[in-house]
Amino acid sequence: MKILAIYPGHCSTVAYLKDGEIVDCISEEKFNNIKNSMAFPIKSINWILEKNNLDINNFGKIGIVGKSTVFYDIKIDSDNNFTSSLNSNENLIKKIYRWIDYNLKWSFKDEVIKNIQLYRFNKNFEARKKYYFNKLKEILNIKDLSKIELIDHHDCHGYGAYYGLKREDKALVFTLDGQGDFSCARVYKVENDNWELLADTWWKYSIGELYSKVTKILGMKPLEHEYKVMGLAAYSDEKYYEKTKKEIFDGLFWLEDLKFKSKIPSHMFEYYLKENIPYHRFDNIAGALQDLLEEKVIEWIKRAIEKKGIRNIYTGGGVFMNVKLNKKIQELDEVENVHFMPSCGDESTPIGAAYYLCEKRKPFKNIYFGISYSNDEIREFIKRENLEKKYEVTFYKDIELEVAKLLSSYKVVARFRDRNEWGARSLGNRAILGRPDRMETFFEINDRIKQRDFWMPFAPTILDKFAHLYLINPKNIEAPYMITAFDSTPLGREKFKAAIHQRDKTLRAQILSKDFNEKYYSLIESFYAMTGIGGVLNTSFNLHGYPLVATPKQALFTFENSDLEYLALENYLIRKVK
Ligand SMILES: [Fe+2]
Repeated sequence: MKILAIYPGHCSTVAYLKDGEIVDCISEEKFNNIKNSMAFPIKSINWILEKNNLDINNFGKIGIVGKSTVFYDIKIDSDNNFTSSLNSNENLIKKIYRWIDYNLKWSFKDEVIKNIQLYRFNKNFEARKKYYFNKLKEILNIKDLSKIELIDHHDCHGYGAYYGLKREDKALVFTLDGQGDFSCARVYKVENDNWELLADTWWKYSIGELYSKVTKILGMKPLEHEYKVMGLAAYSDEKYYEKTKKEIFDGLFWLEDLKFKSKIPSHMFEYYLKENIPYHRFDNIAGALQDLLEEKVIEWIKRAIEKKGIRNIYTGGGVFMNVKLNKKIQELDEVENVHFMPSCGDESTPIGAAYYLCEKRKPFKNIYFGISYSNDEIREFIKRENLEKKYEVTFYKDIELEVAKLLSSYKVVARFRDRNEWGARSLGNRAILGRPDRMETFFEINDRIKQRDFWMPFAPTILDKFAHLYLINPKNIEAPYMITAFDSTPLGREKFKAAIHQRDKTLRAQILSKDFNEKYYSLIESFYAMTGIGGVLNTSFNLHGYPLVATPKQALFTFENSDLEYLALENYLIRKVK
């Protein structure tokens, strides 16, 4: 059984599943080079078809993420696919709602609004679905429309997390995001593939949305820079942010059983924050917000575990990109095993949709689901781009060893190898690597290549056999995806000075096993033999504001527009000669 699943939204992504296994998964940003591109992922679909020698009609099923998706337009080669509603009245109605809410000081009656929204959705749904499916048929040449299925947004988050990472037959699955299909937080119980929805939070009580709005008010990009707010939060201590928390965030959220509730609806957060945030310092705002998030989500998870007596948990949805929150979750006594979906924003939803549509599901072996290039293709590329005229180009049979040598002598190297990793984080194949035991590496990468915000840390990849030396992981949480953080040991703080959060000394480590990525593993083993350090600094291979690179062309662009000295393109090492 072959299944194609499409998410046409914020970071449009397509997944291909064959015989229960995710074979390919790629985001449109890799093809149009626009970070989190919202264009309909036609290039991603075509790449999958071509790579696997398939026609669109060869799939048994085609999944579309999100029932509300049919209310949006399909825009190819344009980046506002997701935001533009076909019904032009929609925006006007939204504005009227906001005006009423704001002027009545949030005296909104949530049940009334909820019913109006659902009524309008249901009233128009069938007509919109018909229109949308016909448009899909036209664009993709789908012959049999009965193969297309719409799958609920949060089901996609849940199924992706559970089946992608599955280790236990009985578990609780938590989903938490800004919003999708009228929900923002759910708790499911799964037992032998039977799913039971235990609780569903209406999208207007969204703690994820609050986080995004604070991100925006702090001058950063919502739905993208939340991690910067989290990184900033560590610079404020409770004694400093206590006042901010009390004045802005206390009493804003609470739990009713396993559902979140908020004092004001999500779409009013921005007004509320604009009125209340002035004169609170940015780091204290971040600290107070992060504290609120951790407090509420931990309470939510503890309650569910207590209620159901199930201690194995899975998490999905963009809020669980928050590695500090995840760290707190894994440290809970109540939690026995926890599995955090990698890159769990909406780019993960087509994976869940594909699992939803099949029966025998196999978990990930790794998530290198992207594009690869042979050495022949790289040689062609080097020739075409005339690189030998501009740079020193050398072929190395054992490029991993060569890169390890350079790293050991404090050189920074961009590594481009095999298939690119799906998702937002570098897992070694499209990576800028450095020696982690002195701060110069941090400054060199930051000042000369990445231009990241001054408070943001870098992270390491550490070999599994050495992880216990550098970080504290008593439950042996599997962490190959850089989706959670750990406290460091004194040795960790010494050896990973440049790849640690400078304030709280946590490590957002990728703990690497050999079968996850053999070549990368051997690179770090060689590095260890030369330096005695069992890991490297690993940051994503891209310029600030660009997606993680996927193609040699994007790699070269990054190389040429930064002070990177070395680029390892498959087995070719390219060096700028000064
Ligand atoms: Fe989502």
